Amino acid sequence: MTGKGRGTWASRLGFVLAAAGSAVGLGNIWRFPYVTGKSGGGLFVAVYIVFTVLIGLPTMIAEVLLGRTTQSSPVKAFHKLRGRSPWLGVGWLGVAAGFMILSFYSVVAGWTIHYVYLAVTNAFEVAGSADNIGALFDALVANPWANVGYHLLFMSITVSVVLGGVQSGIERWSKILMPALFLMLLGLVFYSIFLPGFGKAASFVFAPHMEAFTFGSVLAALGQAFFSLSLGMGAMLTYGSYLPKETGIPKSALWVATLDTTIALLSSLVVFPITFSFGMEPAAGPGLIFKSIPIAFSQMPGGYVLCIIFFVLVVFAAITSSISLQEVVTSNFIDLFGWRRWKVCLTTGAIIFVFGVPSALSGVPSSPFGPLLKALTDRTFFDWMDYLTANWMLPLGGLLIAVFTGFVIDRSLRREEFKRGTTWGGLYGFWLVLLWVLVPTAIFVVLLQSTGVLGLLGIGG
Ligand code: TRP
Repeated sequence: MTGKGRGTWASRLGFVLAAAGSAVGLGNIWRFPYVTGKSGGGLFVAVYIVFTVLIGLPTMIAEVLLGRTTQSSPVKAFHKLRGRSPWLGVGWLGVAAGFMILSFYSVVAGWTIHYVYLAVTNAFEVAGSADNIGALFDALVANPWANVGYHLLFMSITVSVVLGGVQSGIERWSKILMPALFLMLLGLVFYSIFLPGFGKAASFVFAPHMEAFTFGSVLAALGQAFFSLSLGMGAMLTYGSYLPKETGIPKSALWVATLDTTIALLSSLVVFPITFSFGMEPAAGPGLIFKSIPIAFSQMPGGYVLCIIFFVLVVFAAITSSISLQEVVTSNFIDLFGWRRWKVCLTTGAIIFVFGVPSALSGVPSSPFGPLLKALTDRTFFDWMDYLTANWMLPLGGLLIAVFTGFVIDRSLRREEFKRGTTWGGLYGFWLVLLWVLVPTAIFVVLLQSTGVLGLLGIGG
């Protein structure tokens, strides 16, 4: 998408692949298992799925609809529909969230690049034991040069893809990479079924364990749903602006959410059997997949090649997601100020890189952003970025997008856009009721509960 004319995806499949490319990424493979482990397992997963269906899906439809109606990036979209109004702030909140998410996302993606290198050099087999494989991760996060270097490398890749305009690359890549990733995960699940810890893992992921479940887990489930579906900051709005007019929105959104959720669940069914079979801690945090998945590869026949392929696919899944974050930021400044794509892209990319350095240093023992900050605030800089964006900014953005679509925009415009190109127009009323009542109330209550205000008033736990 360069120059004046806005491009469109070639087909519904093009949009679904691109949007699923944005949705499916480290959020599914890295973040979902790690947050599930921290939040106690089964009940968290159940709440997550309910949130995805009842809150995520209607919000996604709203975002895509706003994008297609306005053919604009977030801030301009609100401007077109409502003029100079506080609603512009929702667009800017999204741009800010995009900056912050990409800054730490790129650090994690950097780790996955290092894991390609470790796989190529056969480091996992050489390491031998689960403990030694875990030590490889600990060594990586403690190394400032490696972290900042890989972060720089990944940001450079992201910026160069977005420089060329999103559609040319994404549609073609996603068509091959997404199915490949899906097949590899299926294969890994099949391997995990035969591990001694599979039963325990399946119970951990699917059986409701009340003990470890708190209100914090409800907030985490809401945040994970928004993060994984790329919602609440205008990424789906931006991608929706490239959706052809004759393509139905509800069905496309359902496809994206289904693919996204399936891949997250598959990833958990790979990670936790390994975790339990090798006596690891499910609540290990952000290092969970890096410490567990390589163990499986180090022990299976053909594991050397498969491990390389797997981490290469994860890197690509991270790229198709990171470009959607960079694209929101980029298209925003292009649409608003008419700046050149390459100028915006390079400048914002550089700023995001710099802003991500404290996250890249969060595992370094002597850095003030890591252990020191954690001792003071219970979170490293990296943890703060992750927590604030996913659990607070995205749900808040989603709430405002739902309210805007439900109560503020022109009714006939909304109806027409929802019903265009779909046989699912009959769901319009149902969707509206969700947007009017359930989505705002549920998000509001979870956020309010999590601020502790309800506790102060003596309501709720
Ligand atoms: N959803 C992506 C993932 O799961 C991450 C991502 C891409 C994202 N674009 C986003 C998250 C926009 C929130 C908002 O890895």
